[in-house]
Amino acid sequence: MSARTTDAAGVELSDVTIKFGDVVAVSQVDLRIRSGEFFTLLGPSGCGKTTLLRAIAGFNRQTQGSIELAGKIVDAIPAHRRDTGMVFQNYAVFPHLNVWDNVAYGLKPRKIVGSEADERVREALSMVDLTGYEKRQPKQLSGGQQQRVVIARAIAIRPSVLLMDEPLANLDAKLRVRLRNDLRRLQEDLGITTIYVTHDQEEALTLSDRIAVMSAGKVMQVGTPDEIYDAPASRGVAEFIGEGTFLRGIAEQVDRQTVVQLANGSSLTVANEALTGPVWVGMRPHDMQIVEARHGANGLRGTIVSRSYLGASVQFMVDCGLERPVMIQRYAHGLGKVSVGDEIMFHIDPSRVLTFPGSDEKAEL
Ligand SMILES: Nc1ncnc2c1ncn2[C@@H]1O[C@H](COP(=O)(O)OP(=O)(O)OP(=O)(O)O)[C@@H](O)[C@H]1O
Ligand SMILES: [Mg+2]
Repeated sequence: MSARTTDAAGVELSDVTIKFGDVVAVSQVDLRIRSGEFFTLLGPSGCGKTTLLRAIAGFNRQTQGSIELAGKIVDAIPAHRRDTGMVFQNYAVFPHLNVWDNVAYGLKPRKIVGSEADERVREALSMVDLTGYEKRQPKQLSGGQQQRVVIARAIAIRPSVLLMDEPLANLDAKLRVRLRNDLRRLQEDLGITTIYVTHDQEEALTLSDRIAVMSAGKVMQVGTPDEIYDAPASRGVAEFIGEGTFLRGIAEQVDRQTVVQLANGSSLTVANEALTGPVWVGMRPHDMQIVEARHGANGLRGTIVSRSYLGASVQFMVDCGLERPVMIQRYAHGLGKVSVGDEIMFHIDPSRVLTFPGSDEKAEL
């Protein structure tokens, strides 16, 4: 299949709100998704991801706002006439159809028949590595193969925009990682604009060009995986997107530096210049280095209370006399002997400390 590279296949959502009676499932969402982009909607269960994706496909009508596909407003266009392919959440193959007929399913309604249809099915099956499986019934396939049939069905119609709702959620961890890589490669080969839904942070970070983090129907932040991980817009986003230790403190200016006093009397220098008053600081586990006590370390001292071996790395919980233990993760290689009960000091670069003004216990995502 020739990649769609010339025609614009972007998606634009303007002020989209979707209500079910009193339930506001999606609230005032504005998004611009570029042609050829792998864009992920990420958020906890019930935050509105499926509802928004179905609206883009045309299966839900938004209550307010408008949706544009490839430069055309599609609000009045029914699902089967929108140029989108959808992989539904928990969507299984049609059990009574063989692999070939499953993949061909969407073609006839689009008036693609005869040799053109055959060609599309062959090509889609080859892309998902299922050539030779045409006559099999779904019950003769593994879970991962069934999932690939569903993906082949969506790409056989050669949509401008591919919509996928947690397509890997029901697979075991190893297969999920393998299919994840396959999906990304396929998407790059096709150059197809893809909107992908997941509640799995790691999946979102590895697959996406950009991510929209959603909570309670709203988009909280849009950015590349690095931006979301390293510069989360709120403590809620920071906590949702990756592991870390979040602590309360008081920020003050000392010698033209920002220093955060923590509850145990120790302090951390942070890179945020204008910060004063009550704050939360966040530290990612791999940003902390275990160091010899030395002058100039920007760190904390504490006692290791647990040690978990994770294969390539080791995770420690360190009791620093703060409201919660601090999580540290280091590569196992070259770590030396560091055991439970040891007192250690660790250092974090001021620019790696996340800071969020405020002192509320509850983190709004
Ligand atoms: N047909 C419906 N009628 C009423 N409420 C609905 C309907 N569909 C969804 N909702 C509600 O809208 C909100 C968003 O649901 P949605 O299915 O979009 O969430 P999600 O982010 O896809 O969650 P999950 O990760 O669990 O799939 C939820 O509170 C849900 O209960
Ligand atoms: Mg859903």
